[in-house]
Amino acid sequence: MSESEIPPQSNDAPASSENRRGFLFAAGTTLMAIGGVLVAAPIIGAAVAPGMLPEKDQWISLGAAKNWVAATTVLIKFRNPGGAPDDGITRENACYVRCIEAGKFQVFAVNCAHLGCPVEWFSQSRLFMCPCHGGVYYEDGSRASGPPPRGLFEFEWRIREGQLEIHSGRLPGLQEGT
Ligand code: FES
Repeated sequence: MSESEIPPQSNDAPASSENRRGFLFAAGTTLMAIGGVLVAAPIIGAAVAPGMLPEKDQWISLGAAKNWVAATTVLIKFRNPGGAPDDGITRENACYVRCIEAGKFQVFAVNCAHLGCPVEWFSQSRLFMCPCHGGVYYEDGSRASGPPPRGLFEFEWRIREGQLEIHSGRLPGLQEGT
């Protein structure tokens, strides 16, 4: 082949390769930046503005302490603190408030200490009964009969500024031992 038959070298090839490399670098950098923001946002949010996050471990009011009648037990519904706005009904919870006398209470979790079914209060017999396996509890929450290994779990409570409050977020349960 003579020199005149050699095809001319294209000057476009190196430039095209450079452009492709630059595009891939920019695309990769952009994707990494987006990933970094997605990972860092909740961490930075928790560190910078903890007050803006849902508070799980807090005291919630069940109403004015003076409104409870001595020697009564009442089912009270409340919303669990924390969680997401779209949790819906799964955030609903309930407890039994027993007013022993003015300013003296017991607040029971509604869940049976056996397998967690909601117990029901019968004021005539002054007993809590579990519909699942026949567990029975006295009005002070202690075990009366049936399979439950212990009495009803209790919430911590306090009276603050005239309100009966329970320590919610940390639900009473088996983690407290038997
Ligand atoms: S869950 Fe209540 S007795 Fe079994």
